[in-house]
Amino acid sequence: TLTRTLLGIESSCDDTAAAVVRLKDGKGRVLSSIVASQTELHAAFGGVVPEIAARAHTEKLDTSIQSALDAAQLGFGDLDAIAVTAGPGLIGGVVAGVMCAKGLSAATGLPLIGVNHLAGHALTPRLTDGLAFPYLMLLVSGGHCQFLIAHSATRFERLGGTIDDAPGEAFDKTAKLLGLPQPGGPAVEDAATRGDPERFRFPRPLLDRAGCDMSFSGLKTALLRARDARISDCGGLTVTDRDDLCAGFQRAVRDVLIEKSRRALQQYLEMSPAAPTLAVAGGVAANTAIRTGLETLCDSLGVAFTAPPLRLCTDNAAMIAWAGIELLTAQAVDPATLTARPRWPL
Ligand code: KG4
Ligand code: ZN
Repeated sequence: TLTRTLLGIESSCDDTAAAVVRLKDGKGRVLSSIVASQTELHAAFGGVVPEIAARAHTEKLDTSIQSALDAAQLGFGDLDAIAVTAGPGLIGGVVAGVMCAKGLSAATGLPLIGVNHLAGHALTPRLTDGLAFPYLMLLVSGGHCQFLIAHSATRFERLGGTIDDAPGEAFDKTAKLLGLPQPGGPAVEDAATRGDPERFRFPRPLLDRAGCDMSFSGLKTALLRARDARISDCGGLTVTDRDDLCAGFQRAVRDVLIEKSRRALQQYLEMSPAAPTLAVAGGVAANTAIRTGLETLCDSLGVAFTAPPLRLCTDNAAMIAWAGIELLTAQAVDPATLTARPRWPL
């Protein structure tokens, strides 16, 4: 059977990533996956600074690609194509990746495939679990939050998503407001395990509205208000206050994601898919409370649940190489996708 080996390149946010993935006997295998994180560069600014990100990608792309090839013990001559994220994302980083990939393609003669970053996330369960189409995907990270039905490598049906912030962003802002380190997700989750989720009651936005749209920006305002009320009453926050605020916040995010997942699943099940599955991906899928909540929901509805391992849930280039393989297999490679674009809905 057909064997294909692709290099993937990803630079749309704050991770410079390169990976080699091989399709063999109908199965995908990650031969190498390098992720150079920029977290430390941005730490002092409390968020990703696009200009710093772009410059760091430019510095790290070539060494990351060389490391990925070395780790796979392969050279360019062993590859069938190069896949690169062409959007959506911070445009400076996307341009750096696309131009680097174009240069490599020109020098090696390897075909070049432009990949949508969101398609990369959404197709990952097919790489890790061999999941068959169709399936419902909840993509939930620092930059994205949406429900998608994956019908094929090129057809994704959006059922709804956030109308403002992504949940990961809300976790990060919460950490910042409470003096916890970045990225905020793991720090807030850790504090929440010791906190009382009932003491502070945060809003569950848009639950009264039909459909699967979500909103998370009001949560950080509510958190800020609760924090400041505590500070003006008591002159400061105790560790218990902080843990309780984290627990209350996390509970609100979890409740919204679970209720909206229930509605997305109801819509999806009306299509009567043969083996209904909910897959989650994105950094927030690492959150144990959210993950187990989703798992319990799926159990109660007779729906299978799957989440890729964390290193393939968060931004990486293996998902981009895999999406490139999927596009080749579907004979859906489109030269028009080789233009870097900040916005690119699926
Ligand atoms: O997928 P990702 O690496 O990057 C993109 O945003 O595309 O996701 C990073 C986000 C950050 O906002 C981080 O705070 C959040 O995922 N995150 C978590 C957890 N681990 C990471 N959020 C909640 N709980 C966690 N355990
Ligand atoms: Zn992402």
